[in-house]
Amino acid sequence: MDLNISMGSHNMQNHTNLKILGKVKTRIFTGGSGFWTRKVRKENIDGDAYRLYNLDVYGYKVHDKMGIYGSVPYLLAHKLGRTLGIFWLNASETLVEISTEPAVKYTLTQMGPVAAKQKVESRTDVRWMSESGIIDVFLLTGPTPSDVFRQYSYLTGTQAMPPLFSLGYHQCRWNYEDEQDVKAVDAGFDEHDIPYDVMWLDIEHTEGKRYFTWDKKRFPNPKRMQELLRSKKRKLVVISDPHIKVDPNYSVYAKAKEQGFFVRNHDGGDFEGVCWPGLSSYLDFTNPKVREWYSSLFAFSVYQGSTDILHVWNDMNEPSVFRGPELTMQKNAIHHGNWEHRELHNIYGFYQQMATAEGLIQRSKGKERPFVLTRSFFAGSQKYGAVWTGDNTAEWSYLKISVPMLLTLSITGISFCGADIGGFIGNPEAELLVRWYQAGAYQPFFRSHATKNTRRREPWLFGEKHTQLIREAIRERYALLPYWYSLFYFAHVASQPVMRPLWIEFPGELETFGVEDEYMLGSALLVHPVTEPKATVVDVFLPGSNEIPVFQRGGSVVPIKTTIGKSTGCMTDSPYGLRVALSTKGSAVGEVYLDDGHSFQYLHQKQFMHRKFSFSSGVLINSCADERGRYPSKCIVEQIFVLGLKKQPSSVTAHSSDGKAQPVAFTYCAKTSTLSLEKLSLNIGADWKVHIQ
Ligand code: GLC
Repeated sequence: MDLNISMGSHNMQNHTNLKILGKVKTRIFTGGSGFWTRKVRKENIDGDAYRLYNLDVYGYKVHDKMGIYGSVPYLLAHKLGRTLGIFWLNASETLVEISTEPAVKYTLTQMGPVAAKQKVESRTDVRWMSESGIIDVFLLTGPTPSDVFRQYSYLTGTQAMPPLFSLGYHQCRWNYEDEQDVKAVDAGFDEHDIPYDVMWLDIEHTEGKRYFTWDKKRFPNPKRMQELLRSKKRKLVVISDPHIKVDPNYSVYAKAKEQGFFVRNHDGGDFEGVCWPGLSSYLDFTNPKVREWYSSLFAFSVYQGSTDILHVWNDMNEPSVFRGPELTMQKNAIHHGNWEHRELHNIYGFYQQMATAEGLIQRSKGKERPFVLTRSFFAGSQKYGAVWTGDNTAEWSYLKISVPMLLTLSITGISFCGADIGGFIGNPEAELLVRWYQAGAYQPFFRSHATKNTRRREPWLFGEKHTQLIREAIRERYALLPYWYSLFYFAHVASQPVMRPLWIEFPGELETFGVEDEYMLGSALLVHPVTEPKATVVDVFLPGSNEIPVFQRGGSVVPIKTTIGKSTGCMTDSPYGLRVALSTKGSAVGEVYLDDGHSFQYLHQKQFMHRKFSFSSGVLINSCADERGRYPSKCIVEQIFVLGLKKQPSSVTAHSSDGKAQPVAFTYCAKTSTLSLEKLSLNIGADWKVHIQ
């Protein structure tokens, strides 16, 4: 193959210094281009192979290629003018060796209006090796990045449409001790005016790590606890792992044993290994009957103490087996259909998440969207929920690596991904914690988590200054939720990743290819998280023909919420704002998608609203983007900011579709070229125009 692989690193050029004042800034970038001549690629020979073998690696090393919790045997290659994919469908242990020939030169010169290009292309060889099983190989021919994403989604499915609450902020630790603790932490968020959506309970909430049960002393009344959360439109997530405690008096164990639902040893008996509960057997999720039965355990009548605000976290599903080889199951263990574990190891966790998501859908009689987080994953896991990057460490290097890790997941179809905010292992200093919140607020799955025996780190425990910064980061997340939700809809229906490496948006710009410390959120926002201690300045690479440091791309419209509530559910009726960032031509486009945020009515009854915003020649138009949608909303657009407007307008008028026109009060700031329209009352779902003259 003669394509440049989008992995590896190179020196970034064309940087702009950007002052950082305690938080991630959003600004517009527009402007002209400069003169530059650069050699942009450097030698990139990768010696070791990537190993795809799902393993429980506590505190994994950064840049290690030995395999951690999940794998997607998929390779994307991109060069100027062409993107390709190779999907190697095999779930056994797999090695992928990538070698790129050195001596690559690429020179671009731009002199006035004439652009001269001279190039010597590199060559990359990829070798795939799987231990066993059938190998299906799919070549995805592109030619554009979005073509490849669509082609890959035909094979593996698209991102499940998440319930809106799950795009809010999640509060987790191992463990919130008891009902009282949950109540106090929940109240802490309100006292400190910090929105959050989901409280999480780790393994200690159960009776001796018997999933689907509650520790009666710590959580005597789980329904009461859920009612408290419900009163603030918040949710609960509890953990449910694949290992089942060997205990004949535990009904989940007894029933699974009786029906032969566990993975077996090579000699025929049930496989037994050690995990959190002690000696355990492992449900064979590769068996459709086991999945069906497991799904039924989430029925409200079966799962005592559960309510419809309870959602689920699948962990340790590589599967993790303490004292097993490499902390997992023997390869000669036997699954349904007499398949050896070696044949399907990497897809075991995928099937648990599938069964869990099915269970949550079934308990609602098919009405509600589930939220399921999984640690182990495979190609296609996007169909069942979210993925996180496991047991990271409270060090700056782990904050930094979260960006390329999540970008990799995103372009392999798994848009709903995140890393533990603050780092799971160890105690982050206040500055690291704040920076992590700031980064996490712009990553898809936004959850803080910490291991046992770490110090408590709820957002208000590090002094008012830090609380304030964390509050701002979380509130910015909530303000941007309409944009996030719309991006997830586009991931769901059109296979577009939510978090995007720069080269996806700028496929013709060589310099973007290796950038992994910044990325695009959708096509409008550029994010460069601060991942170094004591940083007051960062270098931001600005793709496109732009020179002013920015985060909102010139030419885009980003929908936001102007009022933040206690949780996403409390913000249903709160007004919208539009941030219009003009291109050099003075135009901009954007979209917003909304629905009830939790059901499947958007799908079955077309109860959704999809609007398009376009700005050109001084007119902002709100029009329908999908006529099939019928979801009325009372919400108004109350604020519009137009960034990059060169001169002060003489008048602004709003025109409704029935021909009525109304003058609109405005303020204009010449220094920032920003026009602000406030106290508007334009329905988000109605056709209207705003004329700026
Ligand atoms: C694993 C998970 C971690 C969880 C812990 C206890 O280490 O990765 O997130 O808190 O198990 O369940």
